[in-house]
Amino acid sequence: MPADAPPKADSSPAGPSVAVRVRGLTKHFGRGDQLVKALDGVDLDLYSGQMSLIVGPSGCGKTTLLSVIAGILDADEGEVAVFDEAITKMGDRAKTRFRARRIGFVFQQYNLLPALTAAENASIPLVIAGWKKGPAVAKASEVLASIGMAKKVGSLPSQLSGGQMQRVAIARALVHDPQLLVCDEPTAALDHETGLTVMELLRESAVRSDRAVVVVTHDNRVFHFGDRIAHMDDGRVDKVEDRAPDRSAA
Ligand SMILES: Nc1ncnc2c1ncn2[C@@H]1O[C@H](COP(=O)(O)OP(=O)(O)O)[C@@H](O)[C@H]1O
Ligand SMILES: [Mg+2]
Repeated sequence: MPADAPPKADSSPAGPSVAVRVRGLTKHFGRGDQLVKALDGVDLDLYSGQMSLIVGPSGCGKTTLLSVIAGILDADEGEVAVFDEAITKMGDRAKTRFRARRIGFVFQQYNLLPALTAAENASIPLVIAGWKKGPAVAKASEVLASIGMAKKVGSLPSQLSGGQMQRVAIARALVHDPQLLVCDEPTAALDHETGLTVMELLRESAVRSDRAVVVVTHDNRVFHFGDRIAHMDDGRVDKVEDRAPDRSAA
């Protein structure tokens, strides 16, 4: 290399960029005898273009960590930046707006409204964002079709299986094109086969070079979907594994 070559440090080398940066995060619940340190100093980076898993035994702090990352719970100390925006420093209104625009949510419970059709349920984030109902439902129907639910857009939740309801929830999480998708135990209510299909779908439909997907799970049968796996125990991330995902294992 010639001596006058420009420094490389700022020339952003190829490779995944940090989507979620967590530093020194602590969170406790209760006090005195009842004090629980749900997060006890968590440092973690998660990358765009990847499916990251946060795994560990029940009660180790996974949901608490995901909730702070997604801006639905305030930490005691520490910082979280999502796509370089410090959500731990935002006021409530800014955080609500950030969440509505940039983050999609999938939970173990599908939380579908029973009186609304699949497409109407999936359109909710767009309606909240100010879309008119017609275009919102049309867009939601497109997203449903893209995940194999074209024939179910007009069905009510009571007419759908668990796996189909989770697909509606996934369509709802993706309909406003969020940069960060967070999923808390998305396969916990599903049988093994359906759980694998849902993980496959999340990977295929949500992982993009400029987006990140974070899945909390204690289901070790889906660990092979993770590009990066953060192992938690007792409120701490004690190991991070980076793996070439084994696409054939599904
Ligand atoms: N709202 C709350 N009030 C009191 N304790 C809580 C609350 N939420 C979580 N905890 C406690 O914090 C710890 C971590 O919980 P959680 O993050 O839900 O774990 P996980 O998702 O890994 O099962 C547990 O001991 C749990 O009982
Ligand atoms: Mg949990």
